[in-house]
Amino acid sequence: MSLMSANDIITRWSILDRISHFMNLLGVLIAIVSGLPQLNLIIFGFDLGGQFRWITDFIGGEGIRRILHRYIVTGLIGSAFTLHVLSFGLRKQKSHIIFTWKDLKDLIAYYEHKFFKKSKPSLGFHVPGEKLLYWIALVCLFLLGLTGIMMWMRSMFIEYNLLRLLHRIAFIILSVFVLLHFILNIVLPEQLTALKAMFIHGKVSREWIKQHHPKTFEEEQVISISRRRTLKLFLWIIPAAGLSYLFSELLQKPQYKIGEIIVEPAKVMAGKPFTIFVEVTNTGYREDAFSIQLFIDGEFVAERKVTLLDGETRLLNFKATLNDKGQHIIEVNGISKLIEVVEAPPPIEKEIAEKFKKLLAEAYDFIPVIKDGKIAYYEIYDDGGMLIAYGFYERVYAPTDRLTVTGIIDLNYKIKMIDIEKLKPDIHVLNEKILEPEFENQFIGLMIEEVKLSPEGKIDAVSGATISSSQIVETIRKVLGEIQSSS
Ligand code: HEM
Repeated sequence: MSLMSANDIITRWSILDRISHFMNLLGVLIAIVSGLPQLNLIIFGFDLGGQFRWITDFIGGEGIRRILHRYIVTGLIGSAFTLHVLSFGLRKQKSHIIFTWKDLKDLIAYYEHKFFKKSKPSLGFHVPGEKLLYWIALVCLFLLGLTGIMMWMRSMFIEYNLLRLLHRIAFIILSVFVLLHFILNIVLPEQLTALKAMFIHGKVSREWIKQHHPKTFEEEQVISISRRRTLKLFLWIIPAAGLSYLFSELLQKPQYKIGEIIVEPAKVMAGKPFTIFVEVTNTGYREDAFSIQLFIDGEFVAERKVTLLDGETRLLNFKATLNDKGQHIIEVNGISKLIEVVEAPPPIEKEIAEKFKKLLAEAYDFIPVIKDGKIAYYEIYDDGGMLIAYGFYERVYAPTDRLTVTGIIDLNYKIKMIDIEKLKPDIHVLNEKILEPEFENQFIGLMIEEVKLSPEGKIDAVSGATISSSQIVETIRKVLGEIQSSS
């Protein structure tokens, strides 16, 4: 450089151009790395997107990935664009950045020259490929920004999957051109000077321009001071204002929304555990932790700290027990619900409870359902007050046998377990096979329609004990009917 006169050194890129280019490059690189784990792309059955899922954990989890892909990328690319518009406004020479038909011909001629030794086209300030990349990048980044921010802010004027598809297409096009730009800048020897100019000092020699961009000098008409030029000078205010407004929204402390409060079981019984479910949604734009507090009748009961990604909804649950019958107010972060606590029915016989627990390990509490003054069946709850099944215990008197049938029915009215026993251990039954799993297991998985003796139904009677078998079948059908009709 020192050997050349100052007159021989020309500023090819201003500091604003170079910073803007670097921020764009960084923004696109971070966007690609943080966007790839979310890529939904299957090519000829090969899940390409699936190869990149590991990146999320590698960079510190989904929360970090989103901060990178949304805040950092939008900030970098938005600022790069603002600086670019400012530099454009300050530029004294015309930019000739419009991609013309002549540029397309030059582009083809340029690579024919490069790879097939054809004659070299006489280029202006920009290589035609750069102009093409400029416009493709501008359109793709605009599309990526628009669709990305709409998805991020959940402003769904356009269906989410369509936004995502547009985002994916823009990502693929931009990535292909950026990769090409990158490779060509590495493999084409004369590009080294251009790279140094773009990344280090912005300057090239007049000789280099004459050799590679001879038409630059005739292109370089100085733009005279005009109203248009003055307007151009202030254009950058638009993206700057847009970006500031956007970030003033996006940087707000995330808020949450409390959804419906659900109480299980719906009929809360005095002294019995019940569960309060509450939906919490992070309505903000980034991951955050929220404190969710439960109050009953104004008394603080419990608190949950929950960290939610932006837009994420989680169902929290609190366990509680109330001994006083009557109305009570449940309140969760300002949202309240009135519940009625009713008298708990008489407790189940210990022996029957043991039988149910033997057949269903998670059975914890049993509420008898009384019909016509008699226990028709039991509602079975887990230790959280969740209804998990129905149970019945019936005595079956057949001419030759006295038996008991204990059964568990799932919430879809399908038989889950059956246990047939002698009414008393020391009594005789006609055919002991009626007490064995071979007969009992025929009932598993059946619905009421199928609980009939074969050939009509799916139950084969125990040979020599058909009446007892049919009595048992009828008993189970009756209970299934009652559960289905009243639950
Ligand atoms: C300019 C601001 C951008 C914003 C606000 C943004 C936002 C988003 C959002 C919200 C998603 C949906 C997945 C998720 O929840 O993270 C997404 C997906 C994605 N983004 Fe961006 N993005 C931006 C720019 C970019 C850029 C510049 C690229 C790459 C050049 C990119 C590449 C991707 C990819 C590959 C996906 C997955 C698409 C799919 O296959 O579904 N994004 N982006």
